[in-house]
Amino acid sequence: MIRIAHISDTHITGESAYKGYAYDLIANEVNRLNFDLVIHTGDVTNNGLREEYERAEYELKKIQKPLIVVPGNHDVRNVGYELFEDFIGELNGVYEFKDGVLIWVDSTIPDLSDGRIGKHKFRWLKKKLEEYSDRRIKIVAAHHHLVPLPNTGRERNVLFNAGDVLDLLLRNDVTLYLCGHKHVPNVYRVEDLVVDNAGCTSCRKTRRGDVNSYNIVTIHDDGKVEVTIRRVTGDEVRVEHKPVKPKLFVPRGERILRIVQLSESKVSDRVYFRKRVLENVVNLINNRLRPDIVIHNGDVVDMGIERNFQRALKLWRKINASKFVVPGHSDMTYLGYELFPEYLGEPKPVELGDFTFIPVLTPQYETEIGVVGRFGQRKLAKQLDESGKFRVVFMHHNVVPIPRSRERGFLEDAGDVLKLLTGKETELVLTGHGGNAFAVKVENTIIINAGSVSWELHRNPFGNSFNVIDVYPCMVIAFEVQATWGSRRLLGVWKLKGPRGGVS
Ligand SMILES: [Fe+2]
Ligand SMILES: [Fe+2]
Repeated sequence: MIRIAHISDTHITGESAYKGYAYDLIANEVNRLNFDLVIHTGDVTNNGLREEYERAEYELKKIQKPLIVVPGNHDVRNVGYELFEDFIGELNGVYEFKDGVLIWVDSTIPDLSDGRIGKHKFRWLKKKLEEYSDRRIKIVAAHHHLVPLPNTGRERNVLFNAGDVLDLLLRNDVTLYLCGHKHVPNVYRVEDLVVDNAGCTSCRKTRRGDVNSYNIVTIHDDGKVEVTIRRVTGDEVRVEHKPVKPKLFVPRGERILRIVQLSESKVSDRVYFRKRVLENVVNLINNRLRPDIVIHNGDVVDMGIERNFQRALKLWRKINASKFVVPGHSDMTYLGYELFPEYLGEPKPVELGDFTFIPVLTPQYETEIGVVGRFGQRKLAKQLDESGKFRVVFMHHNVVPIPRSRERGFLEDAGDVLKLLTGKETELVLTGHGGNAFAVKVENTIIINAGSVSWELHRNPFGNSFNVIDVYPCMVIAFEVQATWGSRRLLGVWKLKGPRGGVS
């Protein structure tokens, strides 16, 4: 067992931004309670200045426990990364303990608030995870968050390669990811990885009127991870996660639903549109896969002009199954706002047997960045509450970062939308932005992104593809199907809570 005090964002400075009494309160408590290790996930100082580092050195000495400090974007301002090494320590490193290892990584970019674990460091992290693969507990710490956070306003998923990092941590069975940065305490379980965000320990800039806090993390010998968000008011929120291993499940009972999920067909007369591949997919759907439902997650056409919609409709009509479609950002260019509903219909919620299919509109005029909006979120919350069935939410923009894409927060309120979807325990969320297939379970919500079905400009080493999602009474299995060859690759297998009914 290991007990960690996770502090963050102290923002030590001479100015009023810093709340010294909150720092002392938390530092005293950390000393008094039983902790093996203290981790500070960055923004130790407010501006990376020498005077701030001098004060930080003095303040950090108050903590009388083994202490690891990770640099934050504020620490590297004004070439503060050099001072960090002089006053605090290594920017990247490894700390070994009984049964485990902690690897901390500098995710900062000089003078920017955004984060990045760049190619050399990414390789270093990968190598370290391989080197310590036999350790039962693997912890990675960095300043920037990995999964969008609620209550952060215009969410930017600021680790540019968050999708690659998330994928790396999942593939290497990392137990825990520790971060700070947004001053919002939060815990997410992403598959068996616990993503622990600390709030801010001693900065005035809390959000939504919150107070200062730190997190208490306990990793038990049986693998259970417990995180308590402890506020200076004494209020506590406790979350725990028990790993689901072993991960091999066998479906029981008849299949109750099969969905074929497509995205980014991008019908057009540009050379990047691979018409024959899309025609092949339509044949596969009609003759071999025979799904109950086909869902197209948007970017049906490459540009919102009439000729493209005419051609798309022709192909779309050839699919025999029931079909649902939501617009993507490229459908909404030019006259797309008028043409999409005219040709493909206005997306509406549909009930089929024991399932509710809920479309969410995310694109805006002339930008890749999507939004649901506060009004849209309230509508979605109501739809999720009223259903009482197995809910399938589908939209274009992704809510979790996708590997091999530069993540810039493709849904500007992704943090709030993800919290809403997971908070309501939505069963299945389908997205289609980013040009790569990816699937993860966040809390109890399965999230599946589709790659591009027929557009040559994608980011998927498997090629053009689409997903097949099979729902059984107690589980969901998702495959990615190569659009030309029909070969399959497993995206994930997840257990469902309680048995479910069928589509008819
Ligand atoms: Fe901060
Ligand atoms: Fe920060």
